[in-house]
Amino acid sequence: MARKIIIDTDPGQDDAVAILMALGSPEELDVQGLVTVAGNVPLSRTTDNARKILELAQRADVPLHAGCARPMRRKPVTAEHVHGPTGLDGPSLPAPTMEVREQHGVLFIVDALRAAKPGEITLVTLGPLTNIAMAMVLAPDIVERIAEIVMMFGAYSEGGNITPVAEFNSYVDPEAADVVLSSGVKITMVPLDVTHQCLSTRSRLTAFRDIGNACGIATREMLTFSEGFDIKKYGWDGAPLHDPCVIAYLLASKLFGGKQVNVGVQTGDGPTAGMCIVDWWRVTEKPANVLFLREVDVPGFYKLLTERLARLP
Ligand code: RIB
Ligand code: CA
Repeated sequence: MARKIIIDTDPGQDDAVAILMALGSPEELDVQGLVTVAGNVPLSRTTDNARKILELAQRADVPLHAGCARPMRRKPVTAEHVHGPTGLDGPSLPAPTMEVREQHGVLFIVDALRAAKPGEITLVTLGPLTNIAMAMVLAPDIVERIAEIVMMFGAYSEGGNITPVAEFNSYVDPEAADVVLSSGVKITMVPLDVTHQCLSTRSRLTAFRDIGNACGIATREMLTFSEGFDIKKYGWDGAPLHDPCVIAYLLASKLFGGKQVNVGVQTGDGPTAGMCIVDWWRVTEKPANVLFLREVDVPGFYKLLTERLARLP
């Protein structure tokens, strides 16, 4: 029986590849809907990009809802320097035509969780946690109905990628992260400690193109664009691939390793805003609220990703 998931996302090329990977895995993942959030680029663009990706995969049937246009407290922070002005620079995809549902994404999350049996729906978050936190504040009853939240979020030994100490999804809305991390919901976190091991080298990008289908070719074009900034910054032989690691975990958790530890986030302003405080050595009595992943079978990850992209149009 496929696992019901809702994907909360800020596409972004890596989000796009994660969405394609999920859509290429219908036996394991039943995508109930996509909810967009302001993150890599403003909400209007993340929503249009989600439309483009769903149409690329010929899945305009998947409900798409726009969520929050700004963080709970802070001013929006975006990442056009990585993703380009559209947020999906690289391939030239046709202007989208599929509809965006009327209902606000936060209300869709609340209604979907209330309509499902407790523990039936997993939330998959690929961007800032604004929508999830707002849903929890609006409808506290949904917390115990969430099976699990699997999120691309945070960092421990890898420091930050938008500030010296904060990962982007954490930095954009630390207040939202604080609501989610202290909610008591089951959380699995895929941090930079994992994604910085998954480098999209030339040969791996070529393998995507060599699949020969539209989704494989577009994946190579998307990641070739977004890698530019990271390769200059890190000097590695490929850019780290973030969001698809979350889908890979859902499909093959044995590819990953980690530990149940306490994770908090620095809220407010100042130089450490958005920093993840990871009690890896359990030096506090704080509850171990997160399965924090730090190991990954990198060849296994890319093999799985390539295989699932090959199942798409
Ligand atoms: O720090 C990487 C994360 O921030 C990824 O989810 C990327 O898409 C951006 O949202
Ligand atoms: Ca993202």
